[in-house]
Amino acid sequence: MPEPQYGDPDREYQLSATESDVMVAGGESYNGWTYNGEYPGPEIRAVEGERVRVTIENDLPEETTIHWHGMVLDGDNAMDGVPGVTQTAIEPGEEFVYEFDAEPAGTHWYHSHVGLQLDRELLGPLIIEERNPHIEYDTEATLVLDEYLPTEPRVETSSGTGGGMGGMGGMGGSGFPDAPPAEGTLINGRLPDDPTPVDVEEGSRIRLRLINAAAAATYEIGIGDHELVVTHTDGPAVEPVSVDTLEIGPGERYDAVVEARSPGTWPIRVRPVNKSTSAGRALLDYDQSTGDVTEGEIGSRQLRLSDLHAIDDLDEYRGEPDRTIDLTLSGGMMGGDGDEWTIGGQAYPDADPISIEEGEHVRFRMANRSPMRHPMHLHGHHFVVGDALKDTVIVPGHMGEITIDFVADNPGTWFFHCHHLYHMETGMAREIPYEQ
Ligand code: C2O
Ligand code: CU
Repeated sequence: MPEPQYGDPDREYQLSATESDVMVAGGESYNGWTYNGEYPGPEIRAVEGERVRVTIENDLPEETTIHWHGMVLDGDNAMDGVPGVTQTAIEPGEEFVYEFDAEPAGTHWYHSHVGLQLDRELLGPLIIEERNPHIEYDTEATLVLDEYLPTEPRVETSSGTGGGMGGMGGMGGSGFPDAPPAEGTLINGRLPDDPTPVDVEEGSRIRLRLINAAAAATYEIGIGDHELVVTHTDGPAVEPVSVDTLEIGPGERYDAVVEARSPGTWPIRVRPVNKSTSAGRALLDYDQSTGDVTEGEIGSRQLRLSDLHAIDDLDEYRGEPDRTIDLTLSGGMMGGDGDEWTIGGQAYPDADPISIEEGEHVRFRMANRSPMRHPMHLHGHHFVVGDALKDTVIVPGHMGEITIDFVADNPGTWFFHCHHLYHMETGMAREIPYEQ
Protein backbone atom coordinates (compact mmCIF):
# COMPACT_ATOMS: atom_id res chain seq x y z
CA MET A 1 0.00 0.00 0.00
CA PRO A 2 1.38 3.43 -0.89
CA GLU A 3 2.36 5.89 1.82
CA PRO A 4 -0.38 8.43 2.46
CA GLN A 5 0.26 11.67 0.67
CA TYR A 6 0.40 15.05 2.27
CA GLY A 7 0.27 18.35 0.51
CA ASP A 8 -2.29 18.19 -2.26
CA PRO A 9 -5.06 15.71 -1.55
CA ASP A 10 -5.96 13.06 -4.11
CA ARG A 11 -9.69 13.73 -3.88
CA GLU A 12 -11.52 16.92 -3.05
CA TYR A 13 -15.18 17.36 -2.28
CA GLN A 14 -17.31 20.33 -1.44
CA LEU A 15 -20.38 19.91 0.74
CA SER A 16 -22.90 22.41 1.88
CA ALA A 17 -25.24 21.55 4.74
CA THR A 18 -28.59 23.15 3.95
CA GLU A 19 -32.27 23.01 4.69
CA SER A 20 -33.99 21.59 1.64
CA ASP A 21 -37.02 19.82 0.31
CA VAL A 22 -36.40 16.11 0.35
CA MET A 23 -38.32 14.10 -2.24
CA VAL A 24 -39.09 10.61 -0.98
CA ALA A 25 -41.39 9.09 -3.56
CA GLY A 26 -43.96 9.91 -6.20
CA GLY A 27 -44.42 13.58 -5.39
CA GLU A 28 -44.06 13.28 -1.60
CA SER A 29 -41.53 15.60 -0.04
CA TYR A 30 -40.72 17.14 3.31
CA ASN A 31 -38.42 19.75 4.71
CA GLY A 32 -35.19 18.09 5.79
CA TRP A 33 -31.55 19.00 6.27
CA THR A 34 -29.19 17.63 3.65
CA TYR A 35 -25.77 17.87 2.08
CA ASN A 36 -25.91 19.69 -1.24
CA GLY A 37 -29.69 19.35 -1.33
CA GLU A 38 -29.37 15.58 -1.83
CA TYR A 39 -30.61 12.75 0.32
CA PRO A 40 -28.69 10.52 0.78
CA GLY A 41 -25.86 13.04 0.51
CA PRO A 42 -23.41 12.88 -2.41
CA GLU A 43 -21.23 9.78 -2.47
CA ILE A 44 -17.66 10.42 -1.42
CA ARG A 45 -15.33 7.89 -3.00
CA ALA A 46 -11.60 7.30 -2.90
CA VAL A 47 -9.10 4.48 -3.25
CA GLU A 48 -7.54 3.14 -0.04
CA GLY A 49 -4.48 5.10 0.99
CA GLU A 50 -5.52 8.26 -0.81
CA ARG A 51 -5.78 11.59 0.97
CA VAL A 52 -9.29 13.06 0.95
CA ARG A 53 -10.22 16.67 1.58
CA VAL A 54 -13.81 17.71 2.18
CA THR A 55 -14.74 21.34 2.65
CA ILE A 56 -18.08 21.86 4.36
CA GLU A 57 -20.02 25.06 4.40
CA ASN A 58 -22.64 25.33 7.11
CA ASP A 59 -25.80 26.92 5.71
CA LEU A 60 -27.97 25.57 8.52
CA PRO A 61 -29.47 27.69 11.28
CA GLU A 62 -27.48 25.63 13.83
CA GLU A 63 -23.89 24.56 14.30
CA THR A 64 -22.81 21.26 12.77
CA THR A 65 -19.89 18.81 12.25
CA ILE A 66 -19.20 15.75 10.09
CA HIS A 67 -18.03 12.38 11.38
CA TRP A 68 -16.39 9.92 8.95
CA HIS A 69 -17.88 6.70 10.22
CA GLY A 70 -15.45 3.84 9.56
CA MET A 71 -12.29 5.88 8.95
CA VAL A 72 -9.65 5.15 11.59
CA LEU A 73 -8.10 8.62 11.13
CA ASP A 74 -4.64 7.48 12.16
CA GLY A 75 -2.99 10.55 13.67
CA ASP A 76 -5.97 12.66 12.65
CA ASN A 77 -8.19 12.67 15.76
CA ALA A 78 -8.95 16.36 15.09
CA MET A 79 -10.80 15.30 11.91
CA ASP A 80 -13.25 13.02 13.75
CA GLY A 81 -16.10 15.51 13.91
CA VAL A 82 -17.26 15.11 17.50
CA PRO A 83 -18.35 18.55 18.71
CA GLY A 84 -16.75 19.69 21.94
CA VAL A 85 -14.44 16.67 21.90
CA THR A 86 -12.34 16.73 18.73
CA GLN A 87 -13.32 20.13 17.39
CA THR A 88 -15.41 23.20 18.01
CA ALA A 89 -18.65 22.83 16.08
CA ILE A 90 -18.92 24.76 12.81
CA GLU A 91 -21.07 27.86 13.31
CA PRO A 92 -23.78 28.82 10.81
CA GLY A 93 -22.21 30.62 7.87
CA GLU A 94 -18.76 29.14 8.58
CA GLU A 95 -16.64 26.65 6.68
CA PHE A 96 -14.46 23.79 7.88
CA VAL A 97 -11.93 21.68 6.02
CA TYR A 98 -11.68 17.98 6.85
CA GLU A 99 -8.73 16.02 5.57
CA PHE A 100 -7.95 12.36 6.18
CA ASP A 101 -6.41 9.18 4.79
CA ALA A 102 -8.86 6.81 3.13
CA GLU A 103 -8.27 3.89 5.54
CA PRO A 104 -9.47 1.22 5.79
CA ALA A 105 -11.11 0.23 2.50
CA GLY A 106 -14.77 -0.56 2.58
CA THR A 107 -18.33 0.66 2.76
CA HIS A 108 -18.47 3.54 5.20
CA TRP A 109 -20.55 6.67 5.62
CA TYR A 110 -20.45 10.21 6.87
CA HIS A 111 -22.95 12.04 9.01
CA SER A 112 -23.47 14.98 11.32
CA HIS A 113 -22.46 14.32 14.91
CA VAL A 114 -24.39 17.20 16.44
CA GLY A 115 -27.51 16.41 18.49
CA LEU A 116 -30.26 14.72 16.48
CA GLN A 117 -29.12 16.14 13.12
CA LEU A 118 -28.43 12.66 11.77
CA ASP A 119 -32.18 12.06 11.86
CA ARG A 120 -32.74 15.17 9.76
CA GLU A 121 -30.92 13.30 6.99
CA LEU A 122 -27.45 14.85 7.21
CA LEU A 123 -25.73 11.70 5.97
CA GLY A 124 -24.18 10.11 2.90
CA PRO A 125 -22.10 7.13 1.71
CA LEU A 126 -18.30 7.11 1.96
CA ILE A 127 -16.87 4.38 -0.26
CA ILE A 128 -13.20 3.45 -0.08
CA GLU A 129 -12.22 1.08 -2.86
CA GLU A 130 -9.78 -1.67 -2.03
CA ARG A 131 -6.72 -2.07 -4.22
CA ASN A 132 -6.95 -5.88 -4.26
CA PRO A 133 -10.49 -7.11 -3.56
CA HIS A 134 -10.63 -10.70 -2.27
CA ILE A 135 -13.80 -11.38 -4.25
CA GLU A 136 -14.89 -11.01 -7.83
CA TYR A 137 -17.84 -8.96 -8.93
CA ASP A 138 -18.97 -7.11 -12.04
CA THR A 139 -20.97 -4.16 -10.80
CA GLU A 140 -21.91 -2.61 -7.48
CA ALA A 141 -24.73 -0.66 -5.90
CA THR A 142 -24.94 1.16 -2.59
CA LEU A 143 -28.15 0.90 -0.58
CA VAL A 144 -28.63 3.41 2.23
CA LEU A 145 -31.32 2.20 4.65
CA ASP A 146 -33.14 4.76 6.76
CA GLU A 147 -36.34 5.66 8.52
CA TYR A 148 -38.78 8.12 7.04
CA LEU A 149 -39.30 10.78 9.68
CA PRO A 150 -40.94 13.78 8.06
CA THR A 151 -41.15 15.66 11.35
CA GLU A 152 -38.56 17.33 13.50
CA PRO A 153 -36.60 14.72 15.46
CA ARG A 154 -37.20 14.78 19.21
CA VAL A 155 -36.65 12.36 22.06
CA GLU A 156 -39.78 10.45 22.97
CA THR A 157 -40.52 7.88 25.62
CA SER A 158 -41.33 4.36 24.56
CA SER A 159 -42.48 1.43 26.63
CA GLY A 160 -40.00 -0.93 25.07
CA THR A 161 -42.77 -3.09 23.69
CA GLY A 162 -41.93 -2.71 20.00
CA GLY A 163 -41.45 -5.73 17.74
CA GLY A 164 -38.41 -7.80 18.53
CA MET A 165 -38.44 -7.07 22.26
CA GLY A 166 -39.54 -10.64 22.75
CA GLY A 167 -41.70 -11.04 25.79
CA MET A 168 -40.85 -7.90 27.71
CA GLY A 169 -44.21 -6.42 26.75
CA GLY A 170 -45.55 -4.02 29.28
CA MET A 171 -42.56 -3.45 31.54
CA GLY A 172 -45.04 -2.05 34.03
CA GLY A 173 -45.38 1.15 32.03
CA SER A 174 -41.72 2.09 32.38
CA GLY A 175 -40.34 4.57 29.93
CA PHE A 176 -37.24 4.53 27.76
CA PRO A 177 -35.97 7.50 25.80
CA ASP A 178 -36.53 6.51 22.16
CA ALA A 179 -37.03 7.80 18.63
CA PRO A 180 -40.36 9.20 17.45
CA PRO A 181 -42.26 6.61 15.36
CA ALA A 182 -41.08 6.58 11.75
CA GLU A 183 -43.57 6.69 8.88
CA GLY A 184 -41.82 4.20 6.66
CA THR A 185 -38.57 2.65 5.56
CA LEU A 186 -36.49 4.39 2.92
CA ILE A 187 -33.93 2.79 0.63
CA ASN A 188 -31.77 5.43 -1.03
CA GLY A 189 -34.37 7.97 -0.03
CA ARG A 190 -37.34 6.20 -1.60
CA LEU A 191 -40.44 4.69 -0.07
CA PRO A 192 -41.53 1.18 -1.17
CA ASP A 193 -44.15 2.40 -3.64
CA ASP A 194 -41.42 4.10 -5.68
CA PRO A 195 -38.57 1.63 -5.22
CA THR A 196 -34.95 2.14 -6.17
CA PRO A 197 -34.11 -0.15 -9.12
CA VAL A 198 -30.86 -2.11 -8.89
CA ASP A 199 -29.99 -3.16 -12.44
CA VAL A 200 -28.28 -6.48 -13.08
CA GLU A 201 -27.41 -8.55 -16.08
CA GLU A 202 -28.11 -12.27 -16.04
CA GLY A 203 -24.98 -14.22 -15.18
CA SER A 204 -23.23 -11.28 -13.53
CA ARG A 205 -22.31 -10.64 -9.91
CA ILE A 206 -23.35 -7.49 -8.17
CA ARG A 207 -21.78 -6.24 -4.97
CA LEU A 208 -24.34 -4.60 -2.71
CA ARG A 209 -22.97 -2.10 -0.23
CA LEU A 210 -25.47 -1.92 2.63
CA ILE A 211 -25.43 0.97 5.07
CA ASN A 212 -27.86 1.26 7.96
CA ALA A 213 -28.13 5.02 8.39
CA ALA A 214 -31.28 4.83 10.52
CA ALA A 215 -31.32 6.52 13.89
CA ALA A 216 -33.09 3.67 15.63
CA ALA A 217 -34.17 0.78 13.40
CA THR A 218 -32.33 -2.51 13.01
CA TYR A 219 -33.24 -4.07 9.67
CA GLU A 220 -33.36 -7.56 8.28
CA ILE A 221 -32.55 -7.59 4.60
CA GLY A 222 -33.26 -10.35 2.08
CA ILE A 223 -33.94 -10.72 -1.64
CA GLY A 224 -36.67 -12.87 -3.18
CA ASP A 225 -35.16 -16.13 -4.56
CA HIS A 226 -31.55 -14.88 -4.21
CA GLU A 227 -28.80 -15.56 -1.72
CA LEU A 228 -26.53 -12.97 -0.17
CA VAL A 229 -22.86 -13.88 -0.12
CA VAL A 230 -21.56 -11.71 2.71
CA THR A 231 -18.04 -10.48 1.93
CA HIS A 232 -17.32 -7.53 4.26
CA THR A 233 -18.56 -6.10 7.52
CA ASP A 234 -17.99 -2.46 8.51
CA GLY A 235 -15.29 -2.29 5.82
CA PRO A 236 -12.95 -5.20 6.54
CA ALA A 237 -13.19 -8.33 4.39
CA VAL A 238 -14.57 -11.63 5.68
CA GLU A 239 -14.46 -15.11 4.24
CA PRO A 240 -17.47 -15.18 1.93
CA VAL A 241 -20.49 -16.74 3.62
CA SER A 242 -23.79 -17.46 1.96
CA VAL A 243 -27.05 -16.58 3.74
CA ASP A 244 -30.67 -15.71 2.98
CA THR A 245 -30.94 -12.70 5.29
CA LEU A 246 -28.85 -10.57 7.57
CA GLU A 247 -29.59 -8.13 10.38
CA ILE A 248 -27.96 -4.74 10.26
CA GLY A 249 -28.07 -2.30 13.16
CA PRO A 250 -27.75 1.50 13.08
CA GLY A 251 -24.21 2.40 11.98
CA GLU A 252 -23.33 -1.08 10.70
CA ARG A 253 -22.41 -1.91 7.11
CA TYR A 254 -22.36 -5.17 5.20
CA ASP A 255 -21.25 -5.92 1.68
CA ALA A 256 -22.84 -8.87 -0.05
CA VAL A 257 -22.38 -10.26 -3.53
CA VAL A 258 -25.49 -11.46 -5.31
CA GLU A 259 -25.21 -13.83 -8.25
CA ALA A 260 -27.77 -12.90 -10.86
CA ARG A 261 -29.01 -16.32 -11.92
CA SER A 262 -32.81 -15.94 -11.93
CA PRO A 263 -34.04 -13.45 -14.53
CA GLY A 264 -36.95 -11.27 -13.51
CA THR A 265 -37.63 -8.42 -11.11
CA TRP A 266 -37.31 -9.33 -7.43
CA PRO A 267 -37.92 -7.45 -4.21
CA ILE A 268 -35.01 -6.45 -2.00
CA ARG A 269 -36.88 -6.41 1.30
CA VAL A 270 -35.75 -4.36 4.27
CA ARG A 271 -37.80 -5.14 7.37
CA PRO A 272 -37.40 -3.27 10.68
CA VAL A 273 -37.01 -5.88 13.44
CA ASN A 274 -37.28 -3.62 16.50
CA LYS A 275 -39.96 -1.24 15.25
CA SER A 276 -43.47 -1.63 13.95
CA THR A 277 -42.69 0.50 10.87
CA SER A 278 -43.57 -1.07 7.51
CA ALA A 279 -40.84 -2.68 5.40
CA GLY A 280 -38.81 -0.90 2.75
CA ARG A 281 -38.19 -2.20 -0.70
CA ALA A 282 -35.84 -1.84 -3.65
CA LEU A 283 -35.92 -3.97 -6.80
CA LEU A 284 -33.33 -6.31 -8.22
CA ASP A 285 -34.10 -5.76 -11.89
CA TYR A 286 -32.61 -7.95 -14.64
CA ASP A 287 -31.91 -6.30 -17.96
CA GLN A 288 -34.38 -8.43 -19.96
CA SER A 289 -37.14 -8.30 -17.36
CA THR A 290 -40.63 -7.07 -18.18
CA GLY A 291 -40.66 -5.24 -14.86
CA ASP A 292 -43.36 -7.43 -13.27
CA VAL A 293 -42.27 -8.14 -9.73
CA THR A 294 -42.14 -11.77 -8.62
CA GLU A 295 -42.11 -11.91 -4.81
CA GLY A 296 -40.17 -15.19 -4.65
CA GLU A 297 -39.10 -16.74 -1.38
CA ILE A 298 -36.72 -15.44 1.20
CA GLY A 299 -35.17 -18.37 3.05
CA SER A 300 -34.55 -18.59 6.76
CA ARG A 301 -30.78 -18.86 6.98
CA GLN A 302 -29.82 -15.67 8.79
CA LEU A 303 -26.25 -14.44 9.20
CA ARG A 304 -24.84 -14.93 12.72
CA LEU A 305 -21.89 -13.13 14.23
CA SER A 306 -20.12 -16.49 14.43
CA ASP A 307 -20.37 -16.83 10.62
CA LEU A 308 -18.00 -13.89 10.19
CA HIS A 309 -14.30 -14.67 9.83
CA ALA A 310 -11.99 -11.80 9.06
CA ILE A 311 -9.48 -12.18 6.25
CA ASP A 312 -7.02 -9.92 8.10
CA ASP A 313 -4.60 -11.44 10.55
CA LEU A 314 -6.03 -10.86 14.04
CA ASP A 315 -2.98 -11.91 16.04
CA GLU A 316 -2.46 -8.55 17.74
CA TYR A 317 -5.96 -8.81 19.24
CA ARG A 318 -5.51 -12.32 20.61
CA GLY A 319 -4.18 -13.47 23.93
CA GLU A 320 -4.76 -11.88 27.32
CA PRO A 321 -5.65 -8.18 27.22
CA ASP A 322 -3.62 -5.59 29.14
CA ARG A 323 -6.84 -4.11 30.46
CA THR A 324 -10.37 -5.46 30.76
CA ILE A 325 -13.27 -3.10 31.39
CA ASP A 326 -16.78 -4.24 32.27
CA LEU A 327 -19.51 -2.00 30.92
CA THR A 328 -23.17 -2.40 31.81
CA LEU A 329 -25.63 -0.96 29.33
CA SER A 330 -28.86 0.14 30.92
CA GLY A 331 -31.45 2.85 31.14
CA GLY A 332 -35.06 3.74 31.66
CA MET A 333 -36.54 1.97 34.64
CA MET A 334 -33.90 -0.75 34.59
CA GLY A 335 -31.22 1.80 35.33
CA GLY A 336 -33.28 3.43 38.02
CA ASP A 337 -33.66 6.64 36.09
CA GLY A 338 -36.51 7.09 33.65
CA ASP A 339 -35.05 9.50 31.16
CA GLU A 340 -31.54 8.45 30.33
CA TRP A 341 -29.43 5.66 28.91
CA THR A 342 -26.23 4.75 30.67
CA ILE A 343 -22.91 2.97 30.25
CA GLY A 344 -21.61 1.68 33.57
CA GLY A 345 -24.40 3.58 35.34
CA GLN A 346 -23.28 6.97 34.03
CA ALA A 347 -24.99 9.18 31.48
CA TYR A 348 -22.86 11.33 29.19
CA PRO A 349 -21.81 14.14 29.45
CA ASP A 350 -21.79 13.56 33.24
CA ALA A 351 -19.69 10.47 32.79
CA ASP A 352 -16.06 9.66 33.52
CA PRO A 353 -13.78 9.14 30.56
CA ILE A 354 -12.75 5.50 30.10
CA SER A 355 -9.05 5.47 30.87
CA ILE A 356 -6.65 3.36 28.88
CA GLU A 357 -2.98 3.74 27.86
CA GLU A 358 -1.43 3.88 24.45
CA GLY A 359 -0.25 0.52 23.17
CA GLU A 360 -2.57 -1.53 25.35
CA HIS A 361 -4.69 -4.39 24.17
CA VAL A 362 -8.03 -3.40 25.65
CA ARG A 363 -11.07 -5.58 26.20
CA PHE A 364 -14.59 -4.26 26.79
CA ARG A 365 -17.09 -6.73 28.21
CA MET A 366 -20.50 -5.25 27.56
CA ALA A 367 -23.56 -6.58 29.36
CA ASN A 368 -26.98 -5.34 28.34
CA ARG A 369 -29.40 -4.94 31.23
CA SER A 370 -32.16 -3.41 29.14
CA PRO A 371 -34.64 -5.06 26.77
CA MET A 372 -33.45 -3.05 23.76
CA ARG A 373 -30.53 -3.79 21.49
CA HIS A 374 -27.65 -1.34 21.48
CA PRO A 375 -25.47 -0.94 18.37
CA MET A 376 -22.22 0.12 20.06
CA HIS A 377 -19.72 2.06 17.97
CA LEU A 378 -16.07 2.88 18.67
CA HIS A 379 -14.45 5.77 16.83
CA GLY A 380 -10.88 5.67 15.51
CA HIS A 381 -10.38 1.89 15.71
CA HIS A 382 -11.73 -1.39 14.48
CA PHE A 383 -12.24 -4.04 17.14
CA VAL A 384 -12.40 -7.79 17.10
CA VAL A 385 -15.70 -9.37 18.03
CA GLY A 386 -15.76 -13.14 17.71
CA ASP A 387 -13.61 -13.66 14.65
CA ALA A 388 -14.62 -10.46 12.83
CA LEU A 389 -13.15 -6.99 12.64
CA LYS A 390 -15.86 -4.35 13.03
CA ASP A 391 -16.48 -0.81 14.29
CA THR A 392 -20.13 -1.19 15.33
CA VAL A 393 -21.75 -4.22 16.92
CA ILE A 394 -25.24 -4.93 18.21
CA VAL A 395 -25.40 -5.89 21.88
CA PRO A 396 -28.64 -7.92 21.96
CA GLY A 397 -31.47 -6.97 24.30
CA HIS A 398 -32.23 -8.40 27.74
CA MET A 399 -29.14 -10.16 29.03
CA GLY A 400 -27.13 -9.84 25.80
CA GLU A 401 -23.38 -9.83 26.25
CA ILE A 402 -20.69 -8.88 23.74
CA THR A 403 -16.93 -8.71 24.21
CA ILE A 404 -14.73 -6.60 21.97
CA ASP A 405 -10.94 -6.32 21.81
CA PHE A 406 -8.99 -3.44 20.33
CA VAL A 407 -5.47 -2.08 20.33
CA ALA A 408 -4.91 1.48 21.55
CA ASP A 409 -2.66 2.42 18.65
CA ASN A 410 -4.17 5.76 17.66
CA PRO A 411 -3.75 8.43 20.37
CA GLY A 412 -6.49 11.00 20.72
CA THR A 413 -9.86 11.37 22.39
CA TRP A 414 -12.25 8.89 20.84
CA PHE A 415 -15.98 8.65 21.24
CA PHE A 416 -17.62 5.35 22.15
CA HIS A 417 -21.38 5.26 22.03
CA CYS A 418 -24.62 3.60 21.13
CA HIS A 419 -25.48 4.39 17.52
CA HIS A 420 -29.18 4.47 18.35
CA LEU A 421 -29.17 8.23 18.10
CA TYR A 422 -31.75 8.75 20.83
CA HIS A 423 -29.84 6.54 23.22
CA MET A 424 -26.63 8.46 22.51
CA GLU A 425 -28.39 11.77 22.92
CA THR A 426 -29.75 10.76 26.33
CA GLY A 427 -26.45 9.58 27.77
CA MET A 428 -25.20 6.35 26.19
CA ALA A 429 -21.72 7.57 25.32
CA ARG A 430 -18.23 7.88 26.78
CA GLU A 431 -14.98 9.52 25.83
CA ILE A 432 -11.82 7.41 25.60
CA PRO A 433 -8.78 9.68 25.78
CA TYR A 434 -5.22 8.43 25.59
CA GLU A 435 -1.95 10.11 24.75
CA GLN A 436 1.23 9.13 23.06
CU1 C2O B 1 -21.57 7.04 13.08
CU2 C2O B 1 -20.15 8.56 16.61
O1 C2O B 1 -20.88 7.80 14.82
CU1 CU C 1 -28.70 1.98 22.51
